[in-house]
Amino acid sequence: MTGNTEWWRTAVIYQIYPRSFADANGDGMGDLAGITSRLPALEQLGIDAIWLSPFYTSPQRDAGYDVADYCDIDPLFGTLADFDVMLTQAHDLGIRVIVDLVPNHTSSEHPWFQAALAAGPGSEERGRYMFREGKGDNGELPPNNWESVFGGGAWTRVTEADGTPGQWYLHLFDTTQPDLDWDNPWVREQFRDILSFWLDRGVDGFRVDVAHGMIKAAGLPDYFPPVEGGSMGGGSATLEPAISTEPPAPAPYWAQDGVHDIYRDWRELLNTYPGDRILAAEAWVDPLSQVAKWVRPDEMHQAFNFAYLETPWNAAALHSVIDASLEAFGAVGAPSTWVLSNHDVVRHASRLALTAENLQGHGIGPKTPGLPDPVVGLRRARAATSLMLALPGSSYLYQGEELGLPEVIDLPDDARQDPTWFRTNHERYGRDGCRVPIPWEANSPSYGFGPSEQSWLPQPTEWADLARDVQIGDPNSTLELYTLALKLRREHNLALGAVEWLDGYGADVAAFRNGDVIVIANTGTEPVDLPGGDILLSSEPLDGRVLPGDTTVWLAA
Ligand code: GLC
Repeated sequence: MTGNTEWWRTAVIYQIYPRSFADANGDGMGDLAGITSRLPALEQLGIDAIWLSPFYTSPQRDAGYDVADYCDIDPLFGTLADFDVMLTQAHDLGIRVIVDLVPNHTSSEHPWFQAALAAGPGSEERGRYMFREGKGDNGELPPNNWESVFGGGAWTRVTEADGTPGQWYLHLFDTTQPDLDWDNPWVREQFRDILSFWLDRGVDGFRVDVAHGMIKAAGLPDYFPPVEGGSMGGGSATLEPAISTEPPAPAPYWAQDGVHDIYRDWRELLNTYPGDRILAAEAWVDPLSQVAKWVRPDEMHQAFNFAYLETPWNAAALHSVIDASLEAFGAVGAPSTWVLSNHDVVRHASRLALTAENLQGHGIGPKTPGLPDPVVGLRRARAATSLMLALPGSSYLYQGEELGLPEVIDLPDDARQDPTWFRTNHERYGRDGCRVPIPWEANSPSYGFGPSEQSWLPQPTEWADLARDVQIGDPNSTLELYTLALKLRREHNLALGAVEWLDGYGADVAAFRNGDVIVIANTGTEPVDLPGGDILLSSEPLDGRVLPGDTTVWLAA
């Protein structure tokens, strides 16, 4: 280890969902030139790095997580030259750039898969994917009982070149996302080249998609009890504390030991490059001590803390997940990460006020039970973020949360695009509600998302009031709260600090000292008297030295 000074140990990393961030050419789809144009706004916000969800060549059946060419840009988003401009300008502003790597599966339109279909059973080309013979007298049944994360079965049968029903291929996600066979050295070799391609271009790292899924148990055994299908291994997104101490029996396609060899190999490759380039794991595994395996010193640098994301707004639950996180990641010398929202979950300005269980990935819509009160949701979100940004380690933000955006619940059915919506016959709404293009200017077409009225998902009219230009300079706005929190976080060096819990505020309060800052979060409804010390930040305006419910303050210690 080189000490604790690497940038990623303390970084605030802002997730850009390119489709929905900024649209330069007015086609209703965000693009790289749009991102470049808005980088100064991110510098002003005070983040350290951006992570971009996929912009690669793709038929967009899963919003770009179905990649048809890992080394090119989809024309929807621009060109490699646009990428280079964006990267240079980000670096000039002191912002690092992490790209998304999708190694578990390709698009079914990837030339490798097309070649596999054409080459037929037993070929080298089929050996790059998970093709198997079906069960039953005529191979008419899938090879095992696995279910897709998006709903439905995880196997699709192909028609062979001679027109007869043939082998089946595995897809843990949509039919258009065939899983690669990571036991095949050829696949490993291709990905080393893909990593090098982007490292040579100057990226600062990779967020690795489905980093817990790439190796499947030998023999592809049935999984009992059958997988619910909707969760990526995580649990309830609302009511119950998310940390468990016992590892649940792993599904035969998640968290297999063999994945770690892949990351050791990649780490060696990254180590040959100058600068601190990083790997960040999207690994939905339980408990946190298991997640920490992904960030052992010779593997990845960071892993998303989904246990934290799934923790309800409850002081005791927050206390224990924070302790468990610091302990698990600390035990392997990695920083803890923290995250409350991303492009796969209900935005936390809505999620934290849901009153019925809502499984990760299922999403919410008009018919969902227990829909949130938006005022309560935003208030809790502001308090929850104020708590998160005071924690030591690295935090992830998802575009639009700095504006207090809620989940869009009432998207018209015919606007929805998430494969989950289609694969479950509209039973699960899926993730479109957190992916709506974000508002920049109240009085511009598409609220400044782009130069035209177009927007690939419709924006709610209320979003005019949440536009960036309305919030900037308003001390009570969510944008100014985030900006202040990020500034104070830097000034007080909170990311390199430690959590020292403080008692005496009652069961609904989580309170701790981090260096010279005292953080008090009231997750209940009863007001709590505040101790002395200058108020550095408050998630709601205060009336005297009393902390109302659903509010977090930072005090000078
Ligand atoms: C990851 C992505 C998600 C995508 C899935 C399949 O979970 O975050 O958006 O649908 O992988 O690639």
